[in-house]
Amino acid sequence: MLKIENLRKSFGGVAATNDVSIEFPRDSLCAVIGPNGAGKTTFFNLISGALQPDSGRILLDGQDIVGKSSAQIVHMGIGRAFQVAKLFKSLTVEQSLRGALLSPLGKSSSLAGRFPLSVTRDRAYEVMDQLGLTPKANVISGVLSHGDQKLLDMALALVLSPKVLLLDEPVAGMGPEEREQMMDTVYGLWKNGGLTIVLIEHDMEIVFKVSQNIHVLSYGKVLAEGTPEQIRKNPVVIEAYLGSAKERAA
Ligand SMILES: Nc1ncnc2c1ncn2[C@@H]1O[C@H](COP(=O)(O)OP(=O)(O)OP(=O)(O)O)[C@@H](O)[C@H]1O
Ligand SMILES: [Mg+2]
Repeated sequence: MLKIENLRKSFGGVAATNDVSIEFPRDSLCAVIGPNGAGKTTFFNLISGALQPDSGRILLDGQDIVGKSSAQIVHMGIGRAFQVAKLFKSLTVEQSLRGALLSPLGKSSSLAGRFPLSVTRDRAYEVMDQLGLTPKANVISGVLSHGDQKLLDMALALVLSPKVLLLDEPVAGMGPEEREQMMDTVYGLWKNGGLTIVLIEHDMEIVFKVSQNIHVLSYGKVLAEGTPEQIRKNPVVIEAYLGSAKERAA
């Protein structure tokens, strides 16, 4: 479904993505983990078209999407939520979702005329219902709690019915209760079927609990990959990542 081949991206002398090859099977929930600066967000920036790779291929259902614009990639079915939520802060939740629904189609007034407003409304409410955001439909996005802003960011991707959803640290900055709620929501979305989710997450407990496959990045390279069980036992991972995390916590 989503197959990354020999992807490379350097910034000056830093190889942020250094010959990365990963395959994400259809309808799987996979995690990409690794220490700060490992290249996780860069990896998503390359897939979503925010950055162009120096070399390599990104195949979505066999079609290479390298060189396509972010808008084209969204259109082809790759949605993305950001490490720091990107919102239309002055719009309400409902307006934001309806705006997102129109924007990849061109967002022109003539087009809005051809696209029945009831359709955007229904789809916005469908997604708000799915994520528990309906009570906040008329709240201005900028004043939502941090957790609800992260939810809305995810909703903005979901409203376009992606095949693949890239989630960059969906529970970052949340308290324990909010984290659990968010992960229940993500897991519920995935269980519903029809969605391939790639999750970047620092919280090992969460990653081990929900992922089918885990890919560990370190200094831009794939250090290890496998099931949660395999990753938990992998001495290289323990040394390079879990070990250093323990040191930091100590
Ligand atoms: N636009 C950019 N320009 C220059 N350097 C960049 C840019 N984006 C990322 N980098 C560098 O690339 C490396 C990987 O960064 P990236 O943000 O992908 O890491 P990350 O794994 O997402 O880290 P974190 O866990 O802190 O979010 C870092 O050394 C970073 O400084
Ligand atoms: Mg990051």
